[in-house]
Amino acid sequence: QKKNDFLGKKVLITMGPTQEAIDPVRYISNHSSGKMGYALAESFKNRGADVYVVSGPVSIPIEKEKFQWVDVKSAQEMYDAAKSFHTDCDYAVFTAAVADYGPAEVAPEKIKKNDSQMSIQLKKNVDIAQSLGANKSLNQIHVGFALETENESENAQAKLKKKNFDLIVLNSMKEKGAGFRLDTNKVTIFTNKAEKIESPLAPKTEIAEFILDEIKKLELWEEA
Ligand code: PMT
Repeated sequence: QKKNDFLGKKVLITMGPTQEAIDPVRYISNHSSGKMGYALAESFKNRGADVYVVSGPVSIPIEKEKFQWVDVKSAQEMYDAAKSFHTDCDYAVFTAAVADYGPAEVAPEKIKKNDSQMSIQLKKNVDIAQSLGANKSLNQIHVGFALETENESENAQAKLKKKNFDLIVLNSMKEKGAGFRLDTNKVTIFTNKAEKIESPLAPKTEIAEFILDEIKKLELWEEA
């Protein structure tokens, strides 16, 4: 039975990786496929929400016409697009794997092979979730993601506070069947009410429903 519990709500979702150009043919990026973010976009849509998606470069099957969709490449472009929608949204869900650093300068021409070693100077990128989190209004709910390889729970809970999230979804690289690229995931959710909720290992489409249920519970809790 279809739930319509997000009817009329506006949702901002960032998804996929970012690409930080080194020169016209090369970039720095990561393994995010966009599957988890897209599954969330579909769940919100199916449950009645208007969904605004800001997506890094992905190659999974996508029905863009169901959403307000913006394609971006770099962290800065993702930030600019997300910011333009943020004040209007009821929920912001940050699933994107944003590059924390990008080349300080983009070489105008393809960098030629030369010495046996070379180095690229990197500069810190804007933190989209943190920056928008600092300007969050009381009725907005922010959901973060974390992919950790060590001290997972501590790091995820620290990010919950630092980035002003209401809820953070931790994927563990150590967990079989969880994380980047796969069709399945297993997550642990931490909330600003100090709750800890573990999901089963399940397809990302089901994990998305699980996350929406927890967002809804948190919202009802805050309204009560
Ligand atoms: O795309 P898939 O292949 O399905 O994989 C899904 C996923 C593993 C990429 C996804 O579920 C996930 O965990 N994404 C967050 C990855 C991560 O490590 O994030 P982080 O710890 O660098 O950042 C924490 C939070 O801040 C995230 O919500 C991130 O979107 C956000 N962030 C981080 C850096 C930055 N410059 N801007 C941000 O908005």
